[in-house]
Amino acid sequence: YRIAVFASGQGSNFQSLVDSAHNGRLGAEIALLVCNKPQAPVVERARKAGIDCFLFEPKAYASRGDYEREIAAELAERGIDLIVLAGYMLLLTPVLVDLYAGRMINIHPSLLPSFPGINAIGQALNYGVKVTGVTVHLVDGGMDSGAVIAQQVVHIDDDDNIHSLEDKIHRAEQELYPRVVSWFANGCVHVEGRRITVKHD
Ligand code: GRF
Repeated sequence: YRIAVFASGQGSNFQSLVDSAHNGRLGAEIALLVCNKPQAPVVERARKAGIDCFLFEPKAYASRGDYEREIAAELAERGIDLIVLAGYMLLLTPVLVDLYAGRMINIHPSLLPSFPGINAIGQALNYGVKVTGVTVHLVDGGMDSGAVIAQQVVHIDDDDNIHSLEDKIHRAEQELYPRVVSWFANGCVHVEGRRITVKHD
């Protein structure tokens, strides 16, 4: 089972996937990193782990569809089964969304449908909710709107600030995301419209 990770930034989620692939818990091979920021720290992480990178500059293309068609060719060549978005800061077009319908997942740092979009951690803190968390969902054409696969709760305590909450959220992400990828790799995920169930053997 082969996955491609799409990321644009720090890559802490990418790193947790690499680590769990190395210790055999992922059940999948990370065959490619796709990144639109050649200088991003995630690229160095991929190099250290010996993972191939497809790096591109969106500005060098006339449209999003143009670079996505190139990415699609790379994915086909490597026989990629699942696209795993991990802090990929570009919106996707139907070129990839339709090609990988039901086979593309994203992680978002809130309990969706609360706090979609950017700065979800700050949004939750400012709103004053007492629980927030992380969501792994299928990717559809919208912004953080696809069917929910798994969620993990994170409590907001009175003494939390943006940094401590980010830490808690990132720890929850790094625990949850490799687990969800392993469910896909093991064929445990069943999709029926928006109701997704996971059957463990
Ligand atoms: C994570 O918080 C993820 O939920 C969001 O973007 C962030 C990426 O962080 N989609 P990193 O690059 O994995 O460190």
